[in-house]
Amino acid sequence: MAAIADHNHDRKVMVVDINKARIDAWNSDRLPIYEPGLDEVVKRRRGKNLFFSTDIDKAIRDCDIIFVGVNTPTKTFGRGAGCASDLQYWEATARNIVKVANRDKIVVEKSTLPVRTAEAMEHILSRHPKHHFEVLSNPEFLAEGSAISDLENPDRVLIGGHQTPRGKAAIKALADVYAAWVPKERILTANLWSSELSKLAANAMLAQRISSINSLSALCEATEADIDQVAKAVGMDSRIGPKFLKAGPGFGGSCFKKDILNLVYICETYGLQQVADYWRQVVLMNDYQQERLVGTVIRTMFNTLANKKLALFGFAFKANTSDTRESPAIAITKMLAEERAQIVITDPKALGHVAEDLGELASRVKTTEDPYEAAKDADAIVLLTEWDQFRGLDYGRLYRGMRKPAFLFDGRNVLDHAALRKVGFEVKAVGK
Ligand code: UGA
Repeated sequence: MAAIADHNHDRKVMVVDINKARIDAWNSDRLPIYEPGLDEVVKRRRGKNLFFSTDIDKAIRDCDIIFVGVNTPTKTFGRGAGCASDLQYWEATARNIVKVANRDKIVVEKSTLPVRTAEAMEHILSRHPKHHFEVLSNPEFLAEGSAISDLENPDRVLIGGHQTPRGKAAIKALADVYAAWVPKERILTANLWSSELSKLAANAMLAQRISSINSLSALCEATEADIDQVAKAVGMDSRIGPKFLKAGPGFGGSCFKKDILNLVYICETYGLQQVADYWRQVVLMNDYQQERLVGTVIRTMFNTLANKKLALFGFAFKANTSDTRESPAIAITKMLAEERAQIVITDPKALGHVAEDLGELASRVKTTEDPYEAAKDADAIVLLTEWDQFRGLDYGRLYRGMRKPAFLFDGRNVLDHAALRKVGFEVKAVGK
């Protein structure tokens, strides 16, 4: 919304949420999330044509286009628990729009939703005696950590809608918002169901690439192949391409696992068990990668971690974000703690989430923003997030502060292994 406001000074953008603390934070100097470049955009437009408020009903009345981006977490109860999306917030929002709206509106699905959700929403929205609500699907493809640049220069913007005169007019109204900065040929239109499914499909195929390269990293470790060399050789085939071929501790983030499981559930609902099993395997492969990394740590450190001190470098699910949702570091920390290792976590932005993410385990884990302090007297460093800060460290200083033999597990393959070995580290890296 900030990017839309930044490129459409003549349009008023209102961001509303029921959570007052969150809205207060958006109105303060400390935004509730860390995202490179976001502060500047918000500061530029806030109070001019970008407003944050808890007055949801007023926003519904004032605005012509309503983007609904409420959370759609994986259901934890009832039918489809663990797989299907929980749509209760979406439905409540749709009902509220019907209750409050004072004229025709365009309602845009921005949350990632299962295929054909728009149909259910239309059903609720069509109950209004006087006003018409045209539902569009406009999935978001930005990635955290690069959100602002992804928005500035998107590969594509996708707008799904009905191919009726009203549907087409609504699509055009939304396309005009993006046309303020996105070249016309990158604004794709599609039918509602294609648009909804494209979002799940894009995430599933991206995640599948990571699980594919991670599965090969296991084979590389068993042979003498090097995963980075394999990824480079494979990625130079232009039909495959170089992106999303970096082996690591498995994918995290709020989207991939949730969206794949959602896809699995939809496939099952349509009786397509083989298709469901195929996609579920992408998630299982991801779990396996994390277990494998822990297995390597245990084996290398003489099959016991009890009372050994491990410094975990990185807790965010990837670099440049404070987000830790589904971060591989969470599952890995839990597995290492079960081995009774003493764990110290260091991360430049994400330490605030450790207590909540680890629950009762948190009391057994220490945190510090200083990597040298984390590594002090440690037996091993386990690197889980590829922060630039970790690349620029003084390896000699780290090594000197540690117990010997000092191990370093590079779960992201981002450090200079030759230099680490030179100062004395015993290095293991994923897929090597
Ligand atoms: C992902 C998609 O990339 C976005 O296109 C999509 O819009 C977004 O989900 C969403 O649905 O909202 P995001 O979760 O922010 O974006 O993060 P990614 O950059 O895709 O990374 C996901 C995970 O995969 C991270 O843990 C990352 O470290 C890992 N990854 C990524 C790898 O292990 N190897 C790679 O080569 C790339």
